[in-house]
Amino acid sequence: MEDRILILDFGSQYTQLIARRIRELRVYSEIRPYHIGVDEIEAFSPKGIILSGGPSSVHDSDAPLCAAEVFQLSIPVLGICYGMQLMAYMCGGDVEKAQKREYGKASLVIVDHSDLFKGLPDGIQVWMSHGDKVIALPPGFTILAGTENSPYASMAHRKRGLYGLQFHPEVAHTPQGKVILSNFLFNICRCKPTWTMEAFLGKSIREIRQVVGEERVLCALSGGVDSSVVALLVYRAVGDQLTCIFVDNGLLRSGEAKRVLDTFSRHFHINVRFVDASERFLDRLRGITDPEEKRKIIGEEFIRVFEEEAGKLGHVRYLAQGTLYPDVIESTSVMGPSATIKSHHNVGGLPEHLPFTLLEPLRELFKDEVRELGRIMGLPWEVVGRQPFPGPGLAVRIVGEVNEERLRILREADAIVEEEVRREGLYYKIWQSFAVLLPVKTVGVMGDERTYEYVVAIRAVESLDGMTADWVKLPYALLERISNRVINEVEGVNRVVYDISSKPPSTIEWE
Ligand code: XMP
Repeated sequence: MEDRILILDFGSQYTQLIARRIRELRVYSEIRPYHIGVDEIEAFSPKGIILSGGPSSVHDSDAPLCAAEVFQLSIPVLGICYGMQLMAYMCGGDVEKAQKREYGKASLVIVDHSDLFKGLPDGIQVWMSHGDKVIALPPGFTILAGTENSPYASMAHRKRGLYGLQFHPEVAHTPQGKVILSNFLFNICRCKPTWTMEAFLGKSIREIRQVVGEERVLCALSGGVDSSVVALLVYRAVGDQLTCIFVDNGLLRSGEAKRVLDTFSRHFHINVRFVDASERFLDRLRGITDPEEKRKIIGEEFIRVFEEEAGKLGHVRYLAQGTLYPDVIESTSVMGPSATIKSHHNVGGLPEHLPFTLLEPLRELFKDEVRELGRIMGLPWEVVGRQPFPGPGLAVRIVGEVNEERLRILREADAIVEEEVRREGLYYKIWQSFAVLLPVKTVGVMGDERTYEYVVAIRAVESLDGMTADWVKLPYALLERISNRVINEVEGVNRVVYDISSKPPSTIEWE
């Protein structure tokens, strides 16, 4: 059996990100709820245990605790954020109840480089997001690193194999975080890096076959990376039992419908049905301005269209969807405590009573892992490399009411952004670059005439997984070209602005 790591989940938004970093380091891991018993832990036979972060305080009367034996098993344990506070608390240290949260980048000073911080310089940047903090180490523990606000930002009891990190090594904002996790896996737990994406592919195919049996499957194909990969994966598993449905919801980008159908008929021999449902969607969206309501309507209408199409096909039991981990975590929480940020179309926008059973084979994965999976199944680069596009389409890039006129403006502006970003050679280098239509009109002057027209915002972000993102410093000359072209070529726009917000605290899409 391969070496495996057990992650105990205390409800952090980042728990899956820990799992994903471990996969990147080619070690198998599983996430289980924090309260599992010691028998289950021993049966899993982990080489190491990671305690995730979480929103609770160890001082809460109902604070989530893991089995006390976790710290006595002679298996190395790494506590992250809440996980570290819990380790300190359960091993006899002192945790201070927060007066205020520490949130954002911090400078870590490393004082002990012997194992967890091996190979790192004395000072590194880390990402903090916590309230409580350790103020006295438990007996036998030593300090490995500190920051100005958290003197005990990392601690260890080497003999017992217990390690704690107050910051989050799993997020991109801790640039050296992977070295720290790698040190834990390979120096401390002595894991061997044997897990591969091919192994994931094989396992997924077997699981899909087993679940689906002789039943039929529908797949909502959008042409994006996720649904393309799901379609191909399910096709590899069950062949012609799969029918894909491509719905034109009227919220697609310029030329999208044709492009998707061309790509799929050229590259695949999968059964694809095309449904033009744009009028229905736009009718239902008329007059609606609330972002969550828009998302819910679009999700519901999608399912209605599917039901109708499925009805024409006879009995279909399963609906395959390209739901990824960030969609899941930001819509609902596995554990409950993390807050809903947006109802993502793939998940929270769905009505409660579905006539299908959902098949979501990418649910544990992040975007770049999905790209890698697509690549090893032989999907062409133009499909796997495509920038993400949200399920609710242009509707979440038109702030406020969606109508034909606004869609026309946004489509034209967006096509210019894509063309110019591609021409600059940046399209595949950045996570997303697109236009947003703001429902405000401002005064301008064209020729000798006063104008009073819409504002278009340009958004370009770098991200590894969509969970956090930084705005991209696009070259001024490119911004200038985009601005000139949008104002000159798109009727109805007289102003272009550039969005310079990162996620968090903003999100990538405007709604
Ligand atoms: P936000 O706006 O939440 O976006 O920062 C994070 C990433 O998710 C994409 N996104 C969606 N994808 N259905 C999707 O399939 C959705 O409803 C949805 N909303 C946002 C967004 O484009 C970004 O890549």
